[in-house]
Amino acid sequence: MRMYDIIHKKRDGGELTDEEIAFFVNGFVDKTVSEGQAAAFMMAVFFRGMTDAEISSLTLHMAHSGDTVDLSRFGNLSVDKHSTGGVGDKTTLIVAPIAASVGCKVAKMSGRGLGHTGGTVDKLESIPGYKTSLSAEDFMEQVEKVGVAVIGQTGNLAPADKIMYALRDLTATVDSIPLITSSIMSKKLAAGSHSIVLDVKVGSGAFMKTVDDARSLAEKMVEIGKRCGRNMTAVITDMNTPLGNNVGNALEIQEAVSVLKGEKTGDLRDVCMTLASEMISHSLGISVDESLKKAENAISSGAAFAKFKEWISAQGGDTAYVDDTSRFQKAEYIHSVVSPVDGYIGEMNAEKIGIAAVALGAGRAVKDADIDHAAGIVLLKKTGERVSAGEELCRLYTNNHGSIEEAEKKYLEALCFADEKPTVKPLIYGVIR
Ligand code: URA
Repeated sequence: MRMYDIIHKKRDGGELTDEEIAFFVNGFVDKTVSEGQAAAFMMAVFFRGMTDAEISSLTLHMAHSGDTVDLSRFGNLSVDKHSTGGVGDKTTLIVAPIAASVGCKVAKMSGRGLGHTGGTVDKLESIPGYKTSLSAEDFMEQVEKVGVAVIGQTGNLAPADKIMYALRDLTATVDSIPLITSSIMSKKLAAGSHSIVLDVKVGSGAFMKTVDDARSLAEKMVEIGKRCGRNMTAVITDMNTPLGNNVGNALEIQEAVSVLKGEKTGDLRDVCMTLASEMISHSLGISVDESLKKAENAISSGAAFAKFKEWISAQGGDTAYVDDTSRFQKAEYIHSVVSPVDGYIGEMNAEKIGIAAVALGAGRAVKDADIDHAAGIVLLKKTGERVSAGEELCRLYTNNHGSIEEAEKKYLEALCFADEKPTVKPLIYGVIR
């Protein structure tokens, strides 16, 4: 078999066999397929697309290109949740303990933030002592005993995805549904959970800018996951506006705690309830309605918050910080941004708000850069709310005084004001099972 012929076949719109796809994936990992050939192959896929059989085959070969986690000892109880990435998206911190508190097993590997979106691992590291790396035995033992463990992604999980993603980034082939599907699903399959709930974000702060594109991606990922023997749900949720009110690592932990304690309602809690009910329904094999009642009860009874503390403590985190979130170190500078006009907030561009948070130090513009856990933005007003000139819109938190001017400018650029009350977009556009 020759890589040349495989590229040629896909370039002309042919359907590749499982063997041909395996030849590409294994060859790219062991470097017998060159970067140039891999780039040409991915561009051919970008233009010609792939059938479901081809995507399943690509996903499985990528999933098996490195280590896989065996969660079979938890039977059907293991459940994972994945978000395609957004601004202010702290749902894992809430849904994982809710699900674990009712008996699900959440064995999760999460990523770090890059660009305008945040990452769960960075958020968790703002809790002093929290260990984002555990040995395989400790990880399994914690899932067994506590029901939840969340660590950073291990180096050798789906290595084919790592090198393909880096090359896609350089060759304008990121936004291809077959390639995004295989990238996300290969990591999820390798991570081993029997059920997978995907939060596919759509809007200005998301990868997918239109509901139609988000739906196509969601349907494809659900289809591929089912073909590979997993229980699947994808929930399509809005990311035109940041989720919740806090953007930035320690600030997001504080907001998650207030949802878990039952103190905070609104968009963040609503999205979490939908995701948690899908997780519980798959894991325990009960209806979504019954699962929703369990999720609500987990909050009102205090069981979800107790489970959160048990999880954080098991991974070395100091729970005094979650009992009393005022202990989190405050940023040295807290700057209020006020409204320049009277009117309604018509739009808040989530991507620009994410970029403003990165400027304050909350995220990284380049891989491996340091972040400031205390930095971020607290949104006091959101889309659809009325504001008066001079009224406080948000607070910027940073330890770098020099970043405030740029962040304020970016933040104000993200807003559109309207004279009439705007119609606020739906929070959830669809649930695909
Ligand atoms: N997230 C991923 O992990 N892979 C993609 O291709 C896109 C988003």
